[in-house]
Amino acid sequence: AAVPPADAGGVDLATVDLSDRDWWTTPPEYRHAAFDRLRSERPFAFFAEPDIPGFPPGPGYHAVTRYADLEAISCRPAVFCSGKGAVSMQDVPADLNEFYGSLISMDDPRHAKIRRIVSKTFTPRMLERTLDSVRAVVDDVLARARAKAEAGDGSIDVVADIAAPIPLRVICDMMGVPEADRASVLANSNVILSGGDPELIENDDPLTAFLTAGMEMAALMERLAAERLAEPRDDLTTALVSTEVDGERLSHQEIASFFILLLVAGNETTRNAISQGLLALSQHPDQWARWAADPALDRTGVEEVVRWVSPVTWMRRTATQDGEINGHAFTAGEKFLLFYAAANRDPEVFADPQRFDVGRDPNPHVGFGSKGPHFCLGAHLARRELQVTFRAVFDQLPDLEVTGPPHRLASSFVNGLKRLPARLGGDR
Ligand code: HEM
Repeated sequence: AAVPPADAGGVDLATVDLSDRDWWTTPPEYRHAAFDRLRSERPFAFFAEPDIPGFPPGPGYHAVTRYADLEAISCRPAVFCSGKGAVSMQDVPADLNEFYGSLISMDDPRHAKIRRIVSKTFTPRMLERTLDSVRAVVDDVLARARAKAEAGDGSIDVVADIAAPIPLRVICDMMGVPEADRASVLANSNVILSGGDPELIENDDPLTAFLTAGMEMAALMERLAAERLAEPRDDLTTALVSTEVDGERLSHQEIASFFILLLVAGNETTRNAISQGLLALSQHPDQWARWAADPALDRTGVEEVVRWVSPVTWMRRTATQDGEINGHAFTAGEKFLLFYAAANRDPEVFADPQRFDVGRDPNPHVGFGSKGPHFCLGAHLARRELQVTFRAVFDQLPDLEVTGPPHRLASSFVNGLKRLPARLGGDR
């Protein structure tokens, strides 16, 4: 695909293709300049779906880029459903539903029932109990990063050495995934959220790679589920296999897809908020200094990182009936991609939206989703992990210096970094 120039000034909307994964490796300034144009000139712009082997060609989708439109759609789940697929542009063939058919792509009342199984674990009060273990994980990860730098020439990779291991270890601890299985969880979760990036799927066919990764995760679930049924523990996997919803256990398939969703959703998103939050801070040294000096900014700083990065770029909804939304007429079956990344820079809602401001307050961003039943289940956990991580980096790695350009994931769905070269031990 043609990669547009890095200059944010000259966006040619004719070259903007939100379905093209390579378009998403362009610098964020360019993408946001394109979102600005779409928001003001073509707020329900129509795009064709990418051609993916194994998926039938679809009718295309509307890209929702204005905050008000996104919110209006998100809070009307009966009119704009998730059940036709929330995480893929294409309608998912029936035989693939095993991996796509989880919570995130379900509608109420089933969705609400299934969500209730684990929602108690994710309340702020319950998460207070995990605070010490999150701190211990973060301290250990940062100590290892320091040791690696000291053992070599000072260089580290922010993604592999800081951002990836923290959420991986936290969610694996909560799910009860043994140490020995965590490398494969990381690799498979990378493939599942790779967006087909050739580097991550090793030039394999994306659909085959995706299915293989899903099957390996499901096999891990089978093993852990059998162990938990024999010997229940205080972990989320035990909750999945043993909880009854209205007198009914979850089906095998539901357990597998929920297990995979929790591992993947808890992992990649938080990782990208950490890596690109540190990148943003290194690009805005005044904001780094201001936040580092004032722990009272931990709350607003994390919210600003999530707004700025928008680790999940979009979720999809499908119209269940004909209607009209904010002056836009639609018919049943039309698809809408809710571009959180664009809504989070909407000047109607955010003053000076292209300014990274760790004290921004209020900050009603939609990085965790908008109003509606699917609002991120892990938002409290993610906020907690991020607050602990940034504070620990300020205290323990004040000499962290980003040295190289970010290597961006070629995915429309996850705003991800594959690598971010950095060093420790210099004078920042
Ligand atoms: C849903 C973002 C961390 C679990 C979502 C949605 C977004 C999102 C945008 C969809 C909301 C919607 O459709 O309305 C993020 C971001 C994170 C993060 C940006 C980190 C910075 C986590 C963590 C977990 C998690 C740590 C823990 C397991 C989930 C689940 C759903 C979800 C299970 C589906 C909820 C449902 O459909 O009812 N997240 N998330 N997320 N997230 Fe997160």
